[in-house]
Amino acid sequence: MASIFDNTIDLPNPWIKERAANLIGFEAKFQRIYGNLKLLLDQEGLKAWSKKHHKLELPVIEQLTERYPLIILAGDAGTGKTVSAEAIADRMVRELNREGFFLKLSTRVRGEGLHGQMGNLVNDAFAELKKQAGKNRIAFLLIDEADAIATTRSTMQMHQEEKAAVNTLIQKIDEIRDLKGRAVIFMSTNRLHFIDEAIVRRAAVILEFERPNEQERKDLFEKSLLGIEFTKNELQELANLTSPEKNENLGHSFSDIRLKILPEAIANCFPDNPLTFETLCETIKQIKPSPQIK
Ligand SMILES: Nc1ncnc2c1ncn2[C@@H]1O[C@H](COP(=O)(O)OP(=O)(O)OP(=O)(O)O)[C@@H](O)[C@H]1O
Ligand SMILES: [Mg+2]
Repeated sequence: MASIFDNTIDLPNPWIKERAANLIGFEAKFQRIYGNLKLLLDQEGLKAWSKKHHKLELPVIEQLTERYPLIILAGDAGTGKTVSAEAIADRMVRELNREGFFLKLSTRVRGEGLHGQMGNLVNDAFAELKKQAGKNRIAFLLIDEADAIATTRSTMQMHQEEKAAVNTLIQKIDEIRDLKGRAVIFMSTNRLHFIDEAIVRRAAVILEFERPNEQERKDLFEKSLLGIEFTKNELQELANLTSPEKNENLGHSFSDIRLKILPEAIANCFPDNPLTFETLCETIKQIKPSPQIK
């Protein structure tokens, strides 16, 4: 078996920062998470604050740290869950003036039918997380496509080993609180309703991701094609052509626009012609939005 980790990244990372700058709507998502977690992540600072201003450690400080550093990123395919997890982690260490370690857990083992491996996978990931977490270093774990591993235990066809893996995962999430804000877990899922209730209940934040709205679609075309001067009407038309109304009630996702429409439109012009509004419109009409995951 290949390494259990798809990748590990040291934070802060300049490429992740740059990518975050190109994510539409990122700031609001970051602030929601940060506002929620900063108390958990800065427990020393919190104690110091309490002693300075109240001469003692207020009981509420201890209670605040009983929460779980777990964030669930839920939403349709191609709405930015995976890229946002990295971007949020990167921004968080920058805000807190710390270093970070980001570890992405592969859920591919399941496809290989190695049910018995799931528990080991979870154990190994959390062991690594503990190893990497330090006083000035936050360790992040992303369990990407977590429904492959954290499926509700009430599912009938679930193997015994898989149930055991979910139990292990819950236990590990509980234990991670002992690291006192030095570790954070992200889970991404297309199917929040498949995730085990005990895990959902522990989440400090459940962040919902959606396909881009009209303004976000305009922003996406404008930002990605900065330098091509579109008129207001042209941008509006690009947003209309990718809208739910024009596409059987399901609009194009962020990744449909970025990774399908734009590359194909450019391929239609390259190398002899410039990219034009007309080519973009023609290309959009040829491409269907990716289906919704239910
Ligand atoms: N907010 C956004 N602004 C701009 N581009 C975005 C945004 N969200 C996603 N994208 C684009 O869509 C691509 C897919 O994003 P990502 O892989 O994070 O989606 P996902 O929600 O994890 O999808 P899946 O559920 O299929 O794993 C990214 O590479 C990025 O180019
Ligand atoms: Mg993803």
